[in-house]
Amino acid sequence: MVQRTFSIIKPDAVKKNAIGEALGYFEKAGLKVVAMKMLHLTKEEAKGFYIVHKERPFYDELTTFMSEGPIVAVVIEGEDAIVRVREIMGATNPAQAAPGTIRAALGANIERNAVHGSDSGQSASFEIPYFFSALEIMNI
Ligand code: CDP
Ligand code: MG
Repeated sequence: MVQRTFSIIKPDAVKKNAIGEALGYFEKAGLKVVAMKMLHLTKEEAKGFYIVHKERPFYDELTTFMSEGPIVAVVIEGEDAIVRVREIMGATNPAQAAPGTIRAALGANIERNAVHGSDSGQSASFEIPYFFSALEIMNI
């Protein structure tokens, strides 16, 4: 099934000058970028995005990290895009991420792991409109 999912190039990867490298993994896998914007989240905006994790011990540090510098937010489209983006990203902890994944190549540690990707259709349905209006998503 053709799906849309949401991904973020996190502040650590933007700082490393690796926006193009990270997006290249998705494009080389045949997935399409159908919406994209660069922005610098406030702490409150990062907290809203990660609201599902509000009870987790890492919530405060994570949202400080996600608001420390610019990010690139994208909508990715393609066959089984949700699970495929997760596979291409690799495990949350870069030390456990499979070789050839984005997090294995670019992640520093379990927090500074270079990319985000929606973990389900339900998450994508919350995350895509958190960043993009219907008019900002292309039909290509
Ligand atoms: O991003 P992913 O879905 O793989 O992992 P998550 O469990 O939804 O956690 C969201 C983000 O919180 C991770 O990508 C990490 O940046 C961060 N995190 C952390 O700092 N410490 C942890 N023990 C777990 C996650
Ligand atoms: Mg997650």
